[in-house]
Amino acid sequence: MGKLDATERPRIGAQANEVKEAIQGAIEQGRSTLQTAQIEAQLVAETLDVTMPGVFHPQGRSHPITSTIDRVLDIFVGLGYTVAQGPEVELDYYNFEALNFPIDHPARDMQDTFNLPDGNLLRTHTSNVQIRYMETNEPPVRIVAPGRCYRRDTVDATHAAVFHQIEILAVDEGLTFTDLKGTLKVFLEEMFGEIEVRLRPSFFPFTEPSAEVDVRWRGRWLEVMGCGMVDPNVLKAVGYDPEVYTGFAAGFGVERFAMVLHQIDDIRRLYASDLRFLRQF
Ligand code: DAH
Repeated sequence: MGKLDATERPRIGAQANEVKEAIQGAIEQGRSTLQTAQIEAQLVAETLDVTMPGVFHPQGRSHPITSTIDRVLDIFVGLGYTVAQGPEVELDYYNFEALNFPIDHPARDMQDTFNLPDGNLLRTHTSNVQIRYMETNEPPVRIVAPGRCYRRDTVDATHAAVFHQIEILAVDEGLTFTDLKGTLKVFLEEMFGEIEVRLRPSFFPFTEPSAEVDVRWRGRWLEVMGCGMVDPNVLKAVGYDPEVYTGFAAGFGVERFAMVLHQIDDIRRLYASDLRFLRQF
């Protein structure tokens, strides 16, 4: 512009302005076209069709063994018990010896054991948790211990080589057989409703006296658990003074309870993973 003749300047200047405005106009136009196109594309991509059918997520449910364990734990936790657990691969000491099964005692044959090549075994009951818990805790003790157990049983409608038990243990000063009986009655009535309970004398190496517990269920007596007062030898094995402390214990099979409660005719159904069966719970 500086080199132009002064008379030409206004005309050329006006022309330059026109060109500049035309270019700016075209840019604005282009920008708005692109923006509109972008918004439209986004609207199409993000459209939510509320009339489309939903995505179906099948609902899971608790296995009857799990829900039976949960019910039992709820009841005992409500009574002030703590949940405890122990190992499934166990030493002879915890599964038998400290529970007052002497090395050559025939009571060991009551439970056909899976022995492992390394000298350990698969626990045959949850009673091992009694010893492990008392070894590392001082009385008073109130524990409920669920877990998997193993026995060399021939599998049939009422026996499985792998099954579950729940163990109860209470140790304190002054606990008597009456406390055991009252506790079991409260527990069994929570489980089965108003029910007749009877105790029959029995034998377990780790309790003295020992009893078998029956409930009157649908017109007949049904054996549901073993129990007794903790044998003084068991208290001695964990360093508790049996002159000061007494205790009671009980143990039972979870599958058995689940079968009674749900009228299941064959224990193998609980392990078959058949959804037609499991969906009923
Ligand atoms: N351990 C026993 C069994 O496997 C069950 C049992 C009986 C547990 C009496 C106990 C008890 O704690 O006192 O057959």
